[in-house]
Amino acid sequence: MTVISDLATTTRGGLEIALQPFSSSDVDRVYELCQDPEIQWWTTVPTPYTFHDAEGFVGDYVLPAWNEVAEGTYSSLREGPELVWSVHINGESSLAGLWGSIGYKRLGDGELEIGWWLGAGARGHGIMRAAVATLIVLAFNPVFPLQARRVWWHAMVGNLPSAWIAQRTGFAYQGIEEHHGAGRCWSAMICPDDPIEPRDDWPELPL
Ligand SMILES: CC(C)(COP(=O)(O)OP(=O)(O)OC[C@H]1O[C@@H](n2cnc3c(N)ncnc32)[C@H](O)[C@@H]1OP(=O)(O)O)[C@@H](O)C(=O)NCCC(=O)NCCS
Repeated sequence: MTVISDLATTTRGGLEIALQPFSSSDVDRVYELCQDPEIQWWTTVPTPYTFHDAEGFVGDYVLPAWNEVAEGTYSSLREGPELVWSVHINGESSLAGLWGSIGYKRLGDGELEIGWWLGAGARGHGIMRAAVATLIVLAFNPVFPLQARRVWWHAMVGNLPSAWIAQRTGFAYQGIEEHHGAGRCWSAMICPDDPIEPRDDWPELPL
């Protein structure tokens, strides 16, 4: 696979976290993980989530953007298919395996929107926070094709676990907006020169 996927690894609490393209063998696990009510409530995955949905996600939805990366035609300057990584824990720990998904939607003009979910059994370990930090570095690294000039985070009002990650990875809170048919969403963004570390200027989030 490409350099961009090889470099998307990080560690957290002794766990090695590998961000990599989904493979066809991930369908069963994606189906299993996406039965989680929190994932169905807070993200745009279909409800109910069927095995056919998992097959379509792994076998169809995630492929076009990776093909663009492989062909060298990916660009964040124009809108296009979402670039999605799976979140794996490597090694022999009890958490080893596929646990989540994290991806960038392209809004055009160098603007990306990040989104993520993690299976319930792996939450509370800082795994997703570490994954988000890794992908922000990648988004702003001029050597890689993402070459973003801004990354947006949106979450439905009330999704505090997602907001904690955004706050702790350096996103600047912007307010509440109506977003993509998801209703009222908290909004935050991060730019290339912003430190990827917790910000202390977030307000108490309005509901
Ligand atoms: C959102 C989601 C990925 C969070 O998973 P998680 O395992 O709790 O996330 P992490 O442990 O990686 O990060 C949470 C961070 O918030 C911090 N945190 C936890 N409780 C906190 C609190 N009460 N106040 C402030 N920060 C808190 C944690 O310490 C951690 O930061 P750290 O890594 O600096 O310690 C998970 O709940 C999920 O997948 N939910 C369903 C799907 C979803 O909501 N997706 C996002 C849609 S926008």
